[in-house]
Amino acid sequence: MFPEKQKFVVFSVLCIGFLTYTSFLYTHLPNPNPSFSSSEAKGKALWQKHNCIACHQIYGLGGYLGPDLTNEYSLRGSMFIHIFLQSGNTTMPNYHLSETEIQELTDYLKSVDQSGKADPRKFSINTNGTINQ
Ligand code: HEC
Repeated sequence: MFPEKQKFVVFSVLCIGFLTYTSFLYTHLPNPNPSFSSSEAKGKALWQKHNCIACHQIYGLGGYLGPDLTNEYSLRGSMFIHIFLQSGNTTMPNYHLSETEIQELTDYLKSVDQSGKADPRKFSINTNGTINQ
């Protein structure tokens, strides 16, 4: 159907297009290097160690015994989180965390708060496929 030379040209154009687009994507990632300060990173490790996700959601994903904590920091503030983590309550276990650990978890929740919104059911989808949070 096509002469060999035309096939080669089409193949070359597709290869160059693929490589250009791939290198563009990898050099323009939306968040290539998430900047977790060491305190946030330690907070994330504590979050995983104590399996907080078993009862809480982040970005709408996780367990449903406790509330979604994605925007807990801006909704309740760091003082509330501190006091809550110091004591727990009848349904939330008290992990007997140190003051430093509580600060690290609070810093982690602060970074989560800055990175997204909680309830995806409240998002609206635009006609071009993008999302309004
Ligand atoms: C066994 C389940 C469970 C685990 C595990 C758990 N929580 Fe909770 N948490 C709850 C429940 C249930 C509540 C709601 C308590 C209430 O409102 O009376 C809660 C509430 C909270 C709140 C207050 C939310 C609000 O606005 O009222 C914070 C902050 C919190 N948890 C943080 C954490 C962190 C951090 C961890 C991990 C170290 C964790 N939780 C692990 C069950 C859990």
